[in-house]
Amino acid sequence: MTSTRREILALMAAAGGSLAVTGALYARGLGDDGQSPVALQPAPAAETVTQLAPIAAKFAAAMPIPATLRPTSTTSTTDYYTLPVVPASVEILPGVLTSVLTYGGSFPGPTIRARAGRRTVVKQLNSLTSGTSMHLHGAVVDEANDGGPMDLVQPGASRNYTYLNPQAASTLWYHDHAHHVEAEHVYRGMSGLYLITDDNEAALPLPKGQYDVPIMVRDIGLNPDGSLFFDHQFDTRPQILVNGKPQPYFQVAARKYRLRVLNASNLRPFEFRLSSGHEFTQIASDRGLLAEPFVTTSLPLSPGERGDIIVDFSRYPVGTSIVLENTLFPQDSTKEIMRFDVVRTAYDASSVPARLATLPAPLSPTVTRTFELDMDETTGTGRINGLSYDENRADTTVRWGDTEVWEIKNLDFIPHNFHIHLVDFRVLDINGVAPRAGEAGLKDTVRVMPNETVRILVTFNFPYAGRYYYHCHLIDHSSMGMMANLDIVRS
Ligand code: C2O
Ligand code: CU
Ligand code: CU
Repeated sequence: MTSTRREILALMAAAGGSLAVTGALYARGLGDDGQSPVALQPAPAAETVTQLAPIAAKFAAAMPIPATLRPTSTTSTTDYYTLPVVPASVEILPGVLTSVLTYGGSFPGPTIRARAGRRTVVKQLNSLTSGTSMHLHGAVVDEANDGGPMDLVQPGASRNYTYLNPQAASTLWYHDHAHHVEAEHVYRGMSGLYLITDDNEAALPLPKGQYDVPIMVRDIGLNPDGSLFFDHQFDTRPQILVNGKPQPYFQVAARKYRLRVLNASNLRPFEFRLSSGHEFTQIASDRGLLAEPFVTTSLPLSPGERGDIIVDFSRYPVGTSIVLENTLFPQDSTKEIMRFDVVRTAYDASSVPARLATLPAPLSPTVTRTFELDMDETTGTGRINGLSYDENRADTTVRWGDTEVWEIKNLDFIPHNFHIHLVDFRVLDINGVAPRAGEAGLKDTVRVMPNETVRILVTFNFPYAGRYYYHCHLIDHSSMGMMANLDIVRS
């Protein structure tokens, strides 16, 4: 039987699209001989395949807001934090304790709030039995503090990560990056938000304070005893969590809210919409505010991507409920993300200005490179340009200050994406078509769906040089080798 990947994708979409659509392992999409595609059926429910815990009752838990981490001390220039990596027991399913790995004991980790130009120092103590490496995703940071895959904090050891925050207001997140175990560490709980604000953002009349709400969405699989099930498989992660709770509800006032949406899943891409079908306004993407607001009905986010949206609940009478839905490959259990319940009216002086930020003008490229992403069907390793990650190999060397076009191709029939450390970039086009306005701002992670070729424009003029990384942020894939070294050299 021969089928092209495009045909397989079309068939899978017709079949409900969950079987191996974002699976890490090709085996799930292939026959027993490991070669021929399986006859496409609606995917068996993960619970029957692996006997996971049943999906928790939806909209039963209140959505928590991760606590803001308090500095242990503060000077005129610097906020000092302590953030130990510790195992913990948390209630994910009601009345059941689940063992997780955390930053600071909470699942997800606490939110760190930073100010552009002000220094943050995070002291990490590793109480796990394996090495860790905390990476601040989206940070403009020197190599020594980037949390690289080989730069481990050994069990029992501690170290400081220093961030100068020389960058615009943005929704960043920190997560583990210790190579080969990053996917499992992140899956078991090692991630949290890091929010940078700046003078420009502070002066805008956007919703603030209690009306500026983080929405960390991820999927997970739980065994019937409440323990986590982890095996690099998409189909075994049927439970949606928001800020650590299963498909929660959140009570809102009938006014505008800023929702900072992060896809914190290992493998699952989402496309969010409101069940009312109403428009909302995207104001920011990965690396900060868009130049102008983008009115839309959908927000696509692959793992690691962020999108800040303004939802105006004043159009709904008190007593209305609106569900945040996922329209991408929705299995029954992942279609509904959370529910907003409009419970009161409130004064609202906020607004969305027509201009949000001034983005740097794109520069002309002098270099073009191509990166092909695929999973090796026989060995189950992730590859970029045919090679799995090797810490000792120089994969890509760029000159500091150069502007380059990177063409990224997904050779597979499962989704991938592409993240580069340190820099931000512009998405030029996706299969030759300009991106939607929500993806035309400053990005650090971009979807590369099956059969897509995405071209990005990146200028390596950030105030650091040295060894950085690029990888697929379907993080099981990078754990399996879909990652490479990026050396930025000053000449
Ligand atoms: Cu969010 Cu290299 O990672
Ligand atoms: Cu990163
Ligand atoms: Cu991938």
